[in-house]
Amino acid sequence: MSKLKVLVTRRWPAEVESRLAEQFDVTLNEGDAPMSQQALAAAMGEYDVLCPTVSDRIDADVINGGSRVQLIANYGVGFDHIDIAAAKAKGIAVTNTPGVLTDATADIALTLILMAARRAGEGERELRAGQWSGWRPTHLIGSALKGKVLGCVGLGRIGIATARRAHHGFGMKVAYYGRRPCDAAVGQELDAKFYPNLNDLLREADFVSLHVPGGADTANLIDADAIAAMKKGSYLINTARGGIVDHDALAAALKSGHLGGAGLDVYPAEPAVPEALLGIENVVLLPHLGSANAETRIAMGMCALANVAAYAKGEDVPNPVA
Ligand code: DGY
Repeated sequence: MSKLKVLVTRRWPAEVESRLAEQFDVTLNEGDAPMSQQALAAAMGEYDVLCPTVSDRIDADVINGGSRVQLIANYGVGFDHIDIAAAKAKGIAVTNTPGVLTDATADIALTLILMAARRAGEGERELRAGQWSGWRPTHLIGSALKGKVLGCVGLGRIGIATARRAHHGFGMKVAYYGRRPCDAAVGQELDAKFYPNLNDLLREADFVSLHVPGGADTANLIDADAIAAMKKGSYLINTARGGIVDHDALAAALKSGHLGGAGLDVYPAEPAVPEALLGIENVVLLPHLGSANAETRIAMGMCALANVAAYAKGEDVPNPVA
């Protein structure tokens, strides 16, 4: 039986690429340059399986570019860069890699909370610029975490892992907004207060951390009104998706002093970073590092590979999203 033709759109960890190459007729992206929309569309007619990442826009034009691909095995948990309705309409299965990047992403949320609260980015920039004049009692004063309220917008896997770190590790109180209360045991473990209304949570939280999926349902959820509802001096942390936040409103709130700071790992049109933020000192800007540790990136690849392997054997794919 001939091997499935599989296209991997970006470089993956070497161990996963070689495992894929053992099992399938794989085309790798040696140069790691993002593929054009035309090239992605053409691939739909040339391969059996497409393995994209968050850096590829798999829109309806791409999906309708050819009729050979039967599985889109995404490397990553978020899939708002894939037009799921268009894939469904063509009978194409879509899978993702949930679970394996929970801890890594929660670690980055805590990194951003700590960096924003303790002004680590500002301090590092000052020191590297040769501007540090020495220790003094009033230098770069930040905020403590103990006893402060972490308000999670969404309390799924990554939200829970972030809240656990903040509560058990740093003595923060946990509050959250979601469609429904979380599992009772988790709520009890975290002593978490549920807010069915987003603005009520925003008014209470000292640190607001976003943990909802991207896409149309959450686009601009944190808009100018939501930011105005946030407590004066509070912090906004985003490790989810850039489109959830109105960045002009965020920049204005940081400049006016309404917000104490922000920590962002994701942006609406990556790799572009909203211009308005670049000159603002009290925002930490990371380049989408949420899942970027070696163990996690290998686990993500192995998870995507398991989806492709199951599809190849005609079995149910382990992580279907459509
Ligand atoms: C994901 O998996 O959705 C991340 O954002 C990419 O690491």
